[in-house]
Amino acid sequence: MELYLDTANLEEIREIAGWGVLSGVTTNPTLVAKEFAARGERLTEEGLAAHLRAICEAAGGPVSAEVTALEAEAMVAEGRRLAALHPQIVVKLPTTEEGLKACRRLSTEGVRVNMTLIFSANQALLAARAGASYVSPFLGRVDDISWDGGQLLREIVEMVQVQDLPVRVIAASIRHPRHVTEAALLGADIATMPHAVFKQLLKHPLTDLGLKRFMEDWEKVKP
Ligand code: G3P
Repeated sequence: MELYLDTANLEEIREIAGWGVLSGVTTNPTLVAKEFAARGERLTEEGLAAHLRAICEAAGGPVSAEVTALEAEAMVAEGRRLAALHPQIVVKLPTTEEGLKACRRLSTEGVRVNMTLIFSANQALLAARAGASYVSPFLGRVDDISWDGGQLLREIVEMVQVQDLPVRVIAASIRHPRHVTEAALLGADIATMPHAVFKQLLKHPLTDLGLKRFMEDWEKVKP
């Protein structure tokens, strides 16, 4: 399973890419808005384009950039503009009627599409039939409503395998390290997670304690 960062923050991307474990990045309008607000920068077409290109360079892999249009025609136009920014851009579309129409058109043109906001296996099936390269079920938001995000992912992974669908499954809306383990065990192709969860994947008190002891013992006898 590949590991992606779910962020629009360049420092976070550079840090995790530096570990040598980052395969890609996903963004969404909330994350982009948060990033520009934190920098006190007004969002412009040019500013967004430059920022997405910088994310691509830092990520070194696919970068999902989401359209904000809600109608197919406008989604296609926005998707084309996003895809033209950098060869690593994957156009992210919401799983709606208009999103499906836009997915079919963009994928037929050779643009890679990530269908997002997926909350059922049937939505994932429709996205795959519309030519999506990726589907993004939202584990955390399903758990939030006392349902089972893991069960949703299990069904989608199984359906993709049984039906031999040419689509990669991104476990999204990851909230904690256990989600990552679960997604890997269930056979997700990719898990996309916030920077804080990436850090939690690595951190273990026994690793810190063990290293401290090794260093103390070494200090006593080192040449
Ligand atoms: O980027 C889509 C998804 O990962 C969002 O996660 O935590 O806002 O539900 P969250």
